[in-house]
Amino acid sequence: MKDKIERLKKQKNAVILAHYYAPAEVQEIADYVGDSYYLAKIAKKTAAEIIVFCGVSFMGESAKILNPEKKVLMPDLSADCPMAHMVAPGKIEQLKREYEDLAVVCYINSTAALKCLSDVCVTSSNAVNIVRSLPNKNIFFIPDRNLGRFVAEQVPEKNIIVNDGCCPIHAAITAEQLMQIKAAHPNAPILIHPECEPELLAISDFIGSTAEIIDYAAKSERNEFIICTESGVDYKLMTDNPNKTFYYPSPWPCCTDMKLNTLEAVLSVLEKEDNEVTVDRSVSERALRPLDRMLELGR
Ligand code: 13P
Ligand code: SF4
Repeated sequence: MKDKIERLKKQKNAVILAHYYAPAEVQEIADYVGDSYYLAKIAKKTAAEIIVFCGVSFMGESAKILNPEKKVLMPDLSADCPMAHMVAPGKIEQLKREYEDLAVVCYINSTAALKCLSDVCVTSSNAVNIVRSLPNKNIFFIPDRNLGRFVAEQVPEKNIIVNDGCCPIHAAITAEQLMQIKAAHPNAPILIHPECEPELLAISDFIGSTAEIIDYAAKSERNEFIICTESGVDYKLMTDNPNKTFYYPSPWPCCTDMKLNTLEAVLSVLEKEDNEVTVDRSVSERALRPLDRMLELGR
């Protein structure tokens, strides 16, 4: 299967992008593997004619919006992120009426329709810096309450109103689960994703995006770590650090949508060129503005 994928990729001038939560065998054959911010930047600048995006729908959609002329395919079009839908558009209108200078800051994990109503997109690796750089005092942060609260703590000079959405995978990890692993491995620092609940962030040693967690573990002189995010990161952590040990909350956090990106599905989509991501022109033009602003401010 891997050989066939390799041949088709060359033949069709296709590039495979995969998120760190995609299955290990898919990360292994991907041309680019990374966090949401890195993958958005790659999607914007690739010269390939076809982008196969092994992630969830907001990622495929963002790649299409950034590259309307390219064919963007997803191994499984039903791979979605539940959090991406967790905002009532009426709430945005209401707050815009309340605060004259309101900036709507939209975590990239959101639908294209929500991006259309937003001023700037962010990811977990650039949210703090981008929010800090905005001229607006009043911010509505959508859809993730946990990333929103984390940003609010880091940027106290802003009035940040947080929407009540969350990632069901990260929000399900409890402080008890984390304390259990910590009790078994007291010398292992806890590296955590900001989509987790605040009481977990409070007892952790490092908070960052998937790429930042991976980078921290690689650069650290310690040799064991407690990893508090979706367990797909284990492939990269183990590949880069064969002599280090990584512990996860039990059961290992798993995003079933990300796991729909199987090797079989990647091969099939390359063969048939089906599962094309489409975004209505009128939506795509409006959703491009906050994405482009993120790339500009994040530079
Ligand atoms: P990052 O890879 O940007 O940290 O995002 C995590 C995530 O949940 C993507 O869906
Ligand atoms: Fe969405 Fe959570 Fe899955 Fe990321 S891990 S895609 S935020 S459901």
